Amino acid sequence: MATGQDTLFERFLAPVLGQLLDREAMLQLRRSVDWAAAADQFGAVGYPDYYQTGNFHGIEGGYLSPDAAVTYDPITQYVLPPNETWVRQNLVDTIQGQPRRILDLGCGTGSTTLLLKQAFPKAEVIGLDLSPYMLAVAEQKATAEGLSVTWIQGDAAQVPFADASFDLVSASLLFHETPPSVARAVLAESHRLLKPAGEIAILDGNQRTLRWAGWLNDIFEEPYIREYASGSLDAWMGAAGFESVRTEDFWMIHQVTHGVKPADYSLPAYK
Ligand SMILES: C[S@@+](CC[C@H](N)C(=O)[O-])C[C@H]1O[C@@H](n2cnc3c(N)ncnc32)[C@H](O)[C@@H]1O
Repeated sequence: MATGQDTLFERFLAPVLGQLLDREAMLQLRRSVDWAAAADQFGAVGYPDYYQTGNFHGIEGGYLSPDAAVTYDPITQYVLPPNETWVRQNLVDTIQGQPRRILDLGCGTGSTTLLLKQAFPKAEVIGLDLSPYMLAVAEQKATAEGLSVTWIQGDAAQVPFADASFDLVSASLLFHETPPSVARAVLAESHRLLKPAGEIAILDGNQRTLRWAGWLNDIFEEPYIREYASGSLDAWMGAAGFESVRTEDFWMIHQVTHGVKPADYSLPAYK
């Protein structure tokens, strides 16, 4: 795995995690996927500039590399204390209705997407991500669990679905990795995609904690995490038109934000 040099990730986190990770399992996954075919299968999309220039988590090329996809789950289990599934379940638990059509933006390897499908088995669930390699791992996990999810490659700020076509839009661990202008564009797009009274649920790093615990920002090699920490997801959601916006902290370092598209929203307002 190619990593950045002399970063806190390289000096501190990578050596610690290196002892914990199951290298043989990662190599097996690396060998089990035809990465070129995966890139072809999901088709070509235009990548936003911020996405191509960032070295996320110390991996050169960010998410546009099979190494990122292979190492993502093994690393993520250690950076979502106290328990990755509990943390993700917090997002699912905020959902109030019984969504029939769900879109998970920036779905990555699909860990939250699959929890959503398990919670709402009758729903049509779609996971969208820019990285064909992350999607290839997500697809493999869904097949292994016998869960039917549609995976598509695309930009969460420009989603190829009709206005008001989803009951729930979710995003986990996406916004700390995007410039705030992109986060706001994704929220506006989510608002467009939701039916009136549709719900949005977002899991991410706790902005208030990240603001005072600057060293956390240094450990994870994330190019936009400081800008994310200095912003307010509640304010961004309000500006996008969501109401009843509420953020709850979990274990001080995570937050889950829930909001609703106004029930009386009139569709022609987009035109
Ligand atoms: C930290 S990972 C989170 C993955 C997953 N949601 C999870 O909870 O583990 C961030 C993901 O967002 C994706 N991503 C970043 N910007 C995106 C965008 N504009 N549109 C779609 N996906 C994006 C990346 O490819 C990556 O898979």
